[in-house]
Amino acid sequence: MSNQEFPKLTDSATYREIAKRAKADKPPTRSSPLGTVAKTRVPGVTSRKEMQRRINEQDDLVVGHFGTVYYKPVTVCGVDLKLEPLQPSIGTVIHGIDLATDLQDPEMVKFLRDLWLERRVIMFRDQGHLTREQMVEFANRFGEIGATHGERDHIPNSPTAVSSQVVVPGIPDMLLLISDEDVPQVAGSWHCDATWQPRPPMGSVLMCREAPVIGGDTCFCDCYSMWEGLREETRRRVEHLTAIHIGGPIHQMDGVTPQATHPVARTHPETGRTTLYVQQGFVRQFAEAHGVPADEEKVLLREMKLLEGRPENTCRFKWEAGSIAMWDNRAVLHSGSGDYWPHRRMMERLTILDFDESRRAPYYSPQ
Ligand SMILES: [Fe+2]
Repeated sequence: MSNQEFPKLTDSATYREIAKRAKADKPPTRSSPLGTVAKTRVPGVTSRKEMQRRINEQDDLVVGHFGTVYYKPVTVCGVDLKLEPLQPSIGTVIHGIDLATDLQDPEMVKFLRDLWLERRVIMFRDQGHLTREQMVEFANRFGEIGATHGERDHIPNSPTAVSSQVVVPGIPDMLLLISDEDVPQVAGSWHCDATWQPRPPMGSVLMCREAPVIGGDTCFCDCYSMWEGLREETRRRVEHLTAIHIGGPIHQMDGVTPQATHPVARTHPETGRTTLYVQQGFVRQFAEAHGVPADEEKVLLREMKLLEGRPENTCRFKWEAGSIAMWDNRAVLHSGSGDYWPHRRMMERLTILDFDESRRAPYYSPQ
């Protein structure tokens, strides 16, 4: 399915350093959900190799198709599409399109963009034939290609980030998200990408080149519903607050941890609707200028946190090699499911910036 080889991971010193744990036959660390799930699946086993053997035995699956899929048939620019909604309010898988050849007509791009705005995240299957250059071409139809984490004034180069150390030759804007038996990794907390940037990326495109046979789904949570789901009095209290978004150690550039202040209620610049723009992957506090007492701040953040990942706000996408998801960072949170060790999960990500620069910085402008 996939025609793209990954760069040799062992060329990265960071990768080799983390892989020492595997060489010593120690189980993956439980500070990551990947280690916790593995430990839960094979309790009492202390050898990494033995854990791996037993899990691979459990996951020795065969491919099959059965069941019923509901979809909406629609013809756009002469192409017959099947639109499969993942959940009532969020996520649609678009079947029947070839992203390498079917986007020549601007009407098709407009159709996809409108659907993307309506559904927050759209997905595609069977696109593994796309080269990385064609992925860039696809993403570029929706906005300006950003650097690995959006705007080019802060490009993380932390020595602790394997993903920043492994680069595709000729496509430095592409971030490789890699996880294998030796170096398991997952972005397993609810977040929008790079909100620690003053002008965070509008959207992200993720291609799966190698998928775990089971596990590693990405979940998406609707931020419009999160805003609507807050109690009326909470909405009034937080409506004009701002919050501080702080990157993690892997987002450092030249040793500097990035941070930015954004409105808690955000106006979506294309739909005009309000989203809750607090991602507790990066947010721990409101801006000090508001003087929100610490105990009240804790209660408010907790109320918001309880809306992250509520089933009715969330869809879940199972990856196959050649699957692509494109999501709107202004309207959804996302989180990887850290359950797939020891299987390989190899992904490629591009960020997209709004063509209209005046819309890049988050703002709140109630109707
Ligand atoms: Fe992410």
